[in-house]
Amino acid sequence: AAKFKDLKPNMGVIFKFGSKPGILIMAADGSLRALSAVCTHLDCTVKYRPDLQKIHCACHNGMYDLNGQNLSGPPPRPLRQFKVAQKGDDVIVTRA
Ligand code: FES
Repeated sequence: AAKFKDLKPNMGVIFKFGSKPGILIMAADGSLRALSAVCTHLDCTVKYRPDLQKIHCACHNGMYDLNGQNLSGPPPRPLRQFKVAQKGDDVIVTRA
């Protein structure tokens, strides 16, 4: 999904997970998580918002926390969580 050296705390990157986008987030505390980037409302691609430290969907102002839990706006369900592992400098994401 990414090179570890390209990540820094409080950032998110979109990567391709099969045919769909995923989002890899390095939280402010340096921990990594990966989730589906497909909004559970109408399938827009979500983004990490460093200013809010949350995941945001700009289509209809949907908000998720860093575990993918839907917090506000129209999204009806959490984002799917993936498994993250680090191998050397590579960050590997697999289905949980
Ligand atoms: Fe994400 Fe509507 S598609 S909030």
